[in-house]
Amino acid sequence: MSHSVLQVDKVNVFYGSSQVLFNMSLDVRQGETLALLGRNGAGKSTTMKTIAGVLTPKSGDIRFKNASIAARAPHLISRAGISFVPEDRQIFPDLTVEDNLTIAIKNSADGKKPWNLERVYDMLPLLSPLKNRLGGQLSGGEQQMLTVGRALMGNPDVILLDEPSEGLAPIMVQKIGDLINALRKVGTTIVLAEQNLHFCLGLADRAVVIDKGVDVFCGTISELNANDEIKQRYLSV
Ligand SMILES: Nc1ncnc2c1ncn2[C@@H]1O[C@H](COP(=O)(O)OP(=O)(O)O)[C@@H](O)[C@H]1O
Ligand SMILES: [Mg+2]
Repeated sequence: MSHSVLQVDKVNVFYGSSQVLFNMSLDVRQGETLALLGRNGAGKSTTMKTIAGVLTPKSGDIRFKNASIAARAPHLISRAGISFVPEDRQIFPDLTVEDNLTIAIKNSADGKKPWNLERVYDMLPLLSPLKNRLGGQLSGGEQQMLTVGRALMGNPDVILLDEPSEGLAPIMVQKIGDLINALRKVGTTIVLAEQNLHFCLGLADRAVVIDKGVDVFCGTISELNANDEIKQRYLSV
């Protein structure tokens, strides 16, 4: 079994006085795709924002490569090797696709540079003919591809993808699925927040189910798919 690279350990997270995560725990293993599943409002985005340092847990810890990152600023967490692709697809609308990618270049924390423009275009062939187009002129699916490309240019150890298929046409959802599989094949470690279990079957190795800010299941994706009680209670299937 591959080793754990990221551990969320019993975090309690609040928006103002309202608590959203309750002793939430999960761990991410090197090279796996971990699905973070739960209904709308369950706390998936909050979990990702907490890992990325956008939110700070009131208690509990987050450990990455054996150091606590729970109190670190987002840019330092990014520099340490965790890349967050938020659900609102933050790209620069007034920059070209290529400039959006180029300004995201960053060496990995260990100085390795596995990703560059050429390799990102290979992985995301849809972007290559669009390299001179402005970010703001892309379709939703193309923007989603670009946000993933931007994340890769940062040479992260772990990528957090927040509902990448949300709101996209079925053909683009398929392409996002193919992309996640291709990334997994080259050993990328991914945390994939999703409402849709079906989308994650065939993509994820393991799953954590979250409901009302509590982790209610952790197991392999096939164990989850075989667990009708968990699926019916906590997922819309
Ligand atoms: N900025 C915020 N301020 C207050 N409550 C929020 C905020 N963002 C999300 N919430 C609440 O936190 C809970 C979890 O939200 P979220 O993490 O976005 O869920 P998910 O991503 O699983 O749909 C929901 O009840 C939501 O209404
Ligand atoms: Mg969300």
